[in-house]
Amino acid sequence: MKVKFLSVMLILSLGFVFQAKSDEGMWLPNKIKQLNYADMQKLGCKLTAEEIYSINGSSLKDAIFQLQNEEGQGFCTGEMVSPQGLMFTNHHCGYEAIAKLSSTTNDYLTHGFWAMKKSDELPVEGMKVSRVVRIEDVSEQVLADVTFDMSESEREKKISAVISKLEKTAVEGTHYNCKVKEMFKGGEYYLFVFEVFGDVRLAGAPPSAIGKFGGDTDNWMWPRHTGDFSIFRVYMSPEGNPTDAYSPDNVPYKPLHHLPVSMKGIQPGDFTMIFGYPGETDRYLSSFGMEYKRDVFNPIVVKLLNTKLVIMKRHMAESDAVRIALSDTYASLANGWKLFDGEALTLKKTDAIAQKQGLEDEFADWATKNDDRSEKYSKILPQIKEMYSNLAGPTKEMIYLSLGLLQASEHTMTTLEFYGLKSQLADAKNNKDAITKSTEELKEKLGTFFDKYYPVTDKEIMMDMIMVYYNDIDADKRSGVFENYIFKTFKGKTQQESIKLFVDAVFAKSIFTSRERMEAFLNKPSAKVLDNDPMMKYLGEIIMEAQMKSGMYTSVLGKLEVAERKFIAGLREMETARVFYPDANSTLRLTYGTVQSYKPRDAVKYSHITYIDGIIEKMDNTNDEFTVPKKLVDLYEKKDFGPYVDETGNLPVAFLSDNDITGGNSGSPILNGEGHLIGLAFDGNWEWLCSNLLFSTELQRTINVDVRYVLWVIDKYAGAGHLLDEMTLIK
Ligand code: ARG
Repeated sequence: MKVKFLSVMLILSLGFVFQAKSDEGMWLPNKIKQLNYADMQKLGCKLTAEEIYSINGSSLKDAIFQLQNEEGQGFCTGEMVSPQGLMFTNHHCGYEAIAKLSSTTNDYLTHGFWAMKKSDELPVEGMKVSRVVRIEDVSEQVLADVTFDMSESEREKKISAVISKLEKTAVEGTHYNCKVKEMFKGGEYYLFVFEVFGDVRLAGAPPSAIGKFGGDTDNWMWPRHTGDFSIFRVYMSPEGNPTDAYSPDNVPYKPLHHLPVSMKGIQPGDFTMIFGYPGETDRYLSSFGMEYKRDVFNPIVVKLLNTKLVIMKRHMAESDAVRIALSDTYASLANGWKLFDGEALTLKKTDAIAQKQGLEDEFADWATKNDDRSEKYSKILPQIKEMYSNLAGPTKEMIYLSLGLLQASEHTMTTLEFYGLKSQLADAKNNKDAITKSTEELKEKLGTFFDKYYPVTDKEIMMDMIMVYYNDIDADKRSGVFENYIFKTFKGKTQQESIKLFVDAVFAKSIFTSRERMEAFLNKPSAKVLDNDPMMKYLGEIIMEAQMKSGMYTSVLGKLEVAERKFIAGLREMETARVFYPDANSTLRLTYGTVQSYKPRDAVKYSHITYIDGIIEKMDNTNDEFTVPKKLVDLYEKKDFGPYVDETGNLPVAFLSDNDITGGNSGSPILNGEGHLIGLAFDGNWEWLCSNLLFSTELQRTINVDVRYVLWVIDKYAGAGHLLDEMTLIK
């Protein structure tokens, strides 16, 4: 039935299925005036295009910040909600910072944190936020000398020369940073000028029983009752400039724009837009790529992550110190685990792949229609198909080597940081200065290596990961480290026993599993110690092997990149009426749509909004995922909801919209037609977890925390009403 239905559908809908729907797309804000604005107005947007994105004076975009880690990698979105630099983001975005500031005596994860005055706010080391100053389409310059058939290396050379020049001249003489980003896998290029603030302080966070209510069970699911928000304040120098790090002299940042906060609430069908930093999508991925994810990539990652998570969870339940230390790593691994699992499941259960196949049939047909096209495009899909089938074997070997062995545990990763020093020590006489420098740097990292390090947990993880690798990889494909090292040096009665003896030796003798041993080594670094270290020997073999094997793997990936770029270029030639948007790549985007419910399955319709009653319904104080703080229950029983109720007199918690978002958008403001904050986007939904690969109007939703619940928690639950006094509340 299904196949028949599809073929009829395809005939009817050639050129229709893939027209961007009004709610589909993560659009570049500098282009919305030309591409989207008319459509946005029709849906209910009251702002002018200039009020949304302008490089002259202040606009909405000036309130939207990207959260970045120490390395400058963006991971979430935050927004200015007061003229004094107060910034909202999700609780799960602030989670790492909250965990880092927590200890068993000051456990902000469990109890929450509220700064009752500015001087109580807690600086977060290493956390940065950035604001886009302007965006420029530089495709013409970058691609000026590039041709369709040019070799990749020649193309690469031409492009990077132009890009470095553009990046340099764009910010000369300013404190701004600049990056040119590729769109459509190299079909277009955009220059982003931005500024980075390195003094960010925690101002408020609800307890996890609110901020993470529902835990991993409810994660990626609707109906939802999570108060997923936290509050930071951005600081600047007294002269008004961004600073690299905390300084007591810094003053609260004065944003060019802060978002008014609406208490007026939402109705189904209301216009909504979300401004933020979506991380990565693969919307132009072929059906072959989707099958590869469904059958090869995701199942492997899910299995390896699960092995780790089971052990971490048990150890975290047994000790508060371990729980606080591992909470952030656990949450992000568990989040990824559920996403990969759900993505593969939706690729199995929905028609997502069939939809892509339909488009590909159309493409193949189109490509043969004239000789020119045929020359350019007719071989691409067969090539992509073959590349994915070549990728399956190497993928399993590579991921098991990297995720299963090299990144198995905390200390395997610590060891990887010593490789530079190892090669310097091999020629110690000529590397004296470099060795001193490396050892000093590594000494400074001793804290990060060992402060929150629990060898008992780590040892169990390492043992189990090795066993999963050993059992799942056939003997002829298995890493040589077993035969050449482990089984030779650590002779047990069985191979499993040998592995155990090896792991015992690592934890008894290696410098990487003990702070004292590592310190002693760094005080007197010697090549011999490193060469004889069981951990170093083990990883050394694996790294060499991974390097050899990765050649094949990365070369297929490189070829795929080129073929996929050409496929997108072909699609854009074929579908002339369609307005294309580039895949998410951690740059500022806007998505617009409406408040919408959905039908997850036959006979079931989900409402667009949840209320506090749902929290009480889900309450289970014997389960840490569904524990409800007593204070919240008291307020509920007294119906002390203040002015935060909707027209039903009840307190809303979360709501759905059909905006198009992905990871990295977390914490993004969801705004009404006036540009007022109505909530914070924080999740996607289970029924369409393949949303990174294909949009669905019917099944894909964004889950937002209602800003009225956020305000209620701050005011009534935390008694931090002074924070609301800073905001512009629209009643
Ligand atoms: N699914 C959310 C996202 O990817 C993260 C939610 C975090 N919550 C959790 N229970 N792990 O943005």
